[in-house]
Amino acid sequence: MTLTRHLRVDGPNHDDRLDLMAQGVLGQPLNRLEGPLKVTGRATYAAEARPRNMAYGVLVQATVPAGKVLEIGDAPGALAVIQDKRMVRYAAQGMDEKGPTSGPDRIEYMGQSIALVVAESFEAARHAAQNIAVRYKSEDVPVLPDAVAPELPPKKQSAVGDVDKAMRDAAVTLDQVWHTPSQMSAAMEPHAAIAEWDGDQVTIRAALQMLSSNRKQMADALGIKEKNLRLLAPYVGGGFGSKLGINAEAVAAAIAAKQLGRPVMVAMTRQQVFDLAHRRSETRQRIRLALDGDGRLTGIGHDVLVSNLPSSEFTEPVAQATPFTYQAAQRQVVHAVARIHRGCAGSVRAPGEAVGVTVFECAMDELAEAAGIDPVELRLRNIPDVEPTTERPFSSHMLAEALQEGARLFGWSGRKSVGQRVEGEWMIGMGMAAAVRVNMLIESRARVTLLQDGHAIVETDMTDIGTGTYTILGQLAAEMLGLPAERVEVRLGDTDFPPASGSGGSFGAASSGNSVYLACEEIRSQIATVMGCNEADLTLQDGVARAGNVSRPLSELITGQVTADGHLQPGKTEKSHRQATWGSHWAEVAVNRWTGEVRVRRMMGVFACGRVLNEKTARSQCLGGMSFGIGIALTEAMEHDPRDGHAVSRDLAEYHVPTHADVPALEVHFLPERDAYVGPLQAKGLGELGICGAGAAVLNAIHNACGVRVRDLPATPDKIIAGLGG
Ligand code: MOS
Repeated sequence: MTLTRHLRVDGPNHDDRLDLMAQGVLGQPLNRLEGPLKVTGRATYAAEARPRNMAYGVLVQATVPAGKVLEIGDAPGALAVIQDKRMVRYAAQGMDEKGPTSGPDRIEYMGQSIALVVAESFEAARHAAQNIAVRYKSEDVPVLPDAVAPELPPKKQSAVGDVDKAMRDAAVTLDQVWHTPSQMSAAMEPHAAIAEWDGDQVTIRAALQMLSSNRKQMADALGIKEKNLRLLAPYVGGGFGSKLGINAEAVAAAIAAKQLGRPVMVAMTRQQVFDLAHRRSETRQRIRLALDGDGRLTGIGHDVLVSNLPSSEFTEPVAQATPFTYQAAQRQVVHAVARIHRGCAGSVRAPGEAVGVTVFECAMDELAEAAGIDPVELRLRNIPDVEPTTERPFSSHMLAEALQEGARLFGWSGRKSVGQRVEGEWMIGMGMAAAVRVNMLIESRARVTLLQDGHAIVETDMTDIGTGTYTILGQLAAEMLGLPAERVEVRLGDTDFPPASGSGGSFGAASSGNSVYLACEEIRSQIATVMGCNEADLTLQDGVARAGNVSRPLSELITGQVTADGHLQPGKTEKSHRQATWGSHWAEVAVNRWTGEVRVRRMMGVFACGRVLNEKTARSQCLGGMSFGIGIALTEAMEHDPRDGHAVSRDLAEYHVPTHADVPALEVHFLPERDAYVGPLQAKGLGELGICGAGAAVLNAIHNACGVRVRDLPATPDKIIAGLGG
């Protein structure tokens, strides 16, 4: 019988046992366990399996912004044209339990999928899909955020005191409006799925981030039982939110495979990903700040307008971190939603803070300048002791340390005043910003098996979307069981394994890691029983168990194998403490006087995220986040046609993510931290922290270089030149 070790995180965990484990592998910058498979092409991604007799499906997309499909014509050369009311209009939101909105004959945005064409080859299917005649009843609908009266969802508004009064009484004020455009996750691997039925059982290989909720969504969408559905996603080429929920391609593949009685693959083209994956909503953000004569904030106002489709509940939580980042007696958050017909908005890496903290930290820079206070000092003066309004304690709080350490490491004291550093035609400036992101823990299960021959196996339906999950879970089991890391095999991305948190919201590593920790703790207890000691007194190292002066190889202690499950649930500490991760961003840029070109010369981040599980994969997460920050500041904008709302920039030639040439050697520092309120690992989320505020450091550096404030992101050369008066 497999024993399960449960833990609900209802209180703190201050012990340092993980630091005292003997193997010494946890935290080490190990290379990715699956790295060789990926670089040699042996890791099979969703679209790379080739079951016998597979047919190819291509999604047909609406060419009107709203209305109804009246008739779809024939597709010469195709095996089938499939219209099925179960096919979906847009992707499920992350962690949804139900399938996404279906009924593809009803059109909500231009580019929505309305049917599937299946053929013997991808090329034939694409040709047929492009030439198919569709008759519509089309409707005129609003596609611009300003064209409609915004909704004010009641739960998303908050106010304490009177910000208007704080503004009137303040020594220094700031009141400005920023705009950020729609953004796209732009993961390297386009969405794809291969579905194959065996009787009433369907197996779907797909590019997905959260298999246990994806399975619920898919079963609901298809109208089948969860037990008849297996999802496989062993390798995923990036997600950034776009694969949190099931999308049109996987649902269509399953329907088509059933109808044709053969395996069907549906892979999106890059352009289809831009149309069909969730975009991050564009935002309009008005920030009001009131400062007293001592440089302390007395009022904070954050008024946000975002957009989404009329039928989607998600709204970008832009001001999510505003209530607890800085202290102020008078505060107000207004969160409005414009219901318009652009592609569905949903979670894109660091939903909320990615654009909310970025804009807020630009506002803090403007306020510091207006008040004549150093930007670092302004932030230090306004850090709250407890969460404002709720007065909950922070689980841990390292913003001050991140600011001070960052200033020292970056050489902040060498910063000149605006426009004072010039090298030929380049104007040089430095900027900084705080980093903050909420922390979450999600229920997770894992199974660990220790074999007599000194190997271990970790199994969970957790995904590795390029983040390093395989490696950190292997390291954890190796540390707990006293094995070299290469003796642990990690199996992920299969709904036959115990359900985990999935990858999202930066919670994957800590949530699934804690479940592996618990399973290993159960195995350690069983070994301790055989050794006749307490689990806490057991040392496991290199396949040998020690207790006091007794030492025995694991192979003598185990017969066959020992298997245990770990089950982690979030508990009271979710409510009792404000959990967040903290950091600081630093940038040095050069702005060309004549062309308005901005080059990021140096960029550095200092982060505190609790225990770091692998220094290399953790650092890589931050490199990615900071690169996103450069994109938000300088290049990324998903444009919509103002007439019909369709995505105009819908490939990587038109949607400009930063390339290698745009990103200098980035510097990442971690502050040593153990957070006692987030489970025995004492580790928090890191995946998204690196993006939160990163763009603000770049934008603030632009101002320091040349005196130009760009509040309509991204800061492209035309806007810089306009600001320079050119
Ligand atoms: Mo994330 S936007 O929860 O993958």
